[in-house]
Amino acid sequence: MPGPAAPAFVVDQERHWSRLMQMAELGAIPGPAPEDRGVNRACLTPLDRAARRLLIGWAEAAGLSVSIDEIGNLFLRHEGGDPGAAPVLTGSHMDTQPNGGRFDGIWGVLAAFEAVQSIREAGIATRRPIEVVAWTNEEGGRFAPGCMGSMAWAGAQPATAWDAVTDTAGISFRQALDEHLAAEADLPRRALGPAGRPPHAYVEAHIEQGPLLESDGLDIGIVTGIQGSRWFGVEIRGKTDHAGTAPLRLRQDAVQDMVRAITALNRLTHDPADVLRFTVGKVEVLPNSSNTVADTARFSIDLRHPDAAVLTARGDAVAGVVQAAMRHCRATVQERFNALPTTFPPLVPDAVERAAAAQGLRARRLASGAFHDAQFLVPVCPAGMIFVPSRGGISHHPAEYTSPEQLAAGTRVLTATLLDLARD
Ligand code: GLV
Ligand code: MN
Ligand code: MN
Ligand code: MN
Repeated sequence: MPGPAAPAFVVDQERHWSRLMQMAELGAIPGPAPEDRGVNRACLTPLDRAARRLLIGWAEAAGLSVSIDEIGNLFLRHEGGDPGAAPVLTGSHMDTQPNGGRFDGIWGVLAAFEAVQSIREAGIATRRPIEVVAWTNEEGGRFAPGCMGSMAWAGAQPATAWDAVTDTAGISFRQALDEHLAAEADLPRRALGPAGRPPHAYVEAHIEQGPLLESDGLDIGIVTGIQGSRWFGVEIRGKTDHAGTAPLRLRQDAVQDMVRAITALNRLTHDPADVLRFTVGKVEVLPNSSNTVADTARFSIDLRHPDAAVLTARGDAVAGVVQAAMRHCRATVQERFNALPTTFPPLVPDAVERAAAAQGLRARRLASGAFHDAQFLVPVCPAGMIFVPSRGGISHHPAEYTSPEQLAAGTRVLTATLLDLARD
């Protein structure tokens, strides 16, 4: 039996890893060892801009054409034999969590770029153009919710939908975006969205961020879909008071009512099967003084489940549960994000499966617990994802790690998948 056919392109593992490590310097969080260094590169900050500039420099040197849209999504285009053909789109995001790792998001962008570069260097002609994209604000850590760039691009929300959303310093998303667009004014602008010509397909490479591939001893995850997620913002308003003099029964203590609300939400979301995910990851208390009763408490809710009916039922109950938990204060509950579970159509997963098999890599199908820009592309074009293993399943943590060899294998699968899709 002949072995798997060798690809006609060469993914440069060293170059790819070195670019990832250069990107990791932009927002580096010092760690005890080089392998424990994380990254804090919030979206639309000068660091995010520096990362995009670094990529743009590489892309221009490689001969790709660069453009940006009105929400800051960045595109690098490799021309095809038929420039009018619907392009194959591939990429991910460059922003990170505040205590993030070196691979979440950025790997998918750099893998896409390396794939395109290896195709160009091998002189392989594709009929379709291939476009690399870096979506704006996937993480939602600075401005909630995440995936703003892909949602606006896909028409799920207008690009102005989040103008009033502020970060913890009070800077609005609109202000940060306008500053960013002004700083990038020299880049060619492109219309937002597919503009009547949907891509032929969208492929996103990403670290798994979970333990399954590693524990199964596999190289590649063929992503079948993404569980649903809902985000809420809760604000509880009471009254400031003196910590030493105000009797408890007369207080309107926002923190105490927040604790009651979170306790009640823990009961609402209790799932003996441990499938439902409920997270309060962000809490703000005002005026945030030890000896003043807080008049304001805000917290975030992140709720996820693979079954739309469960997610809908539990999510719809959130506001009522919070209101019922209020003893002395008033609460407002705002839904910020509602992404139903997504199933990727077969085009991309099947192409990924063929590409992994052709390279003799061990692969399995699996669903994603994390959300990704790819899910918002599904109404526009066939989309799908490629996962590579995450050491210990760790992510949204500086110790996030995937080896250079594992990343290169994933990039080879991405390259072969893109070639398969861009051929006709
Ligand atoms: C996005 O990074 C997520 O939380 O899934
Ligand atoms: Mn990500
Ligand atoms: Mn992430
Ligand atoms: Mn994500």
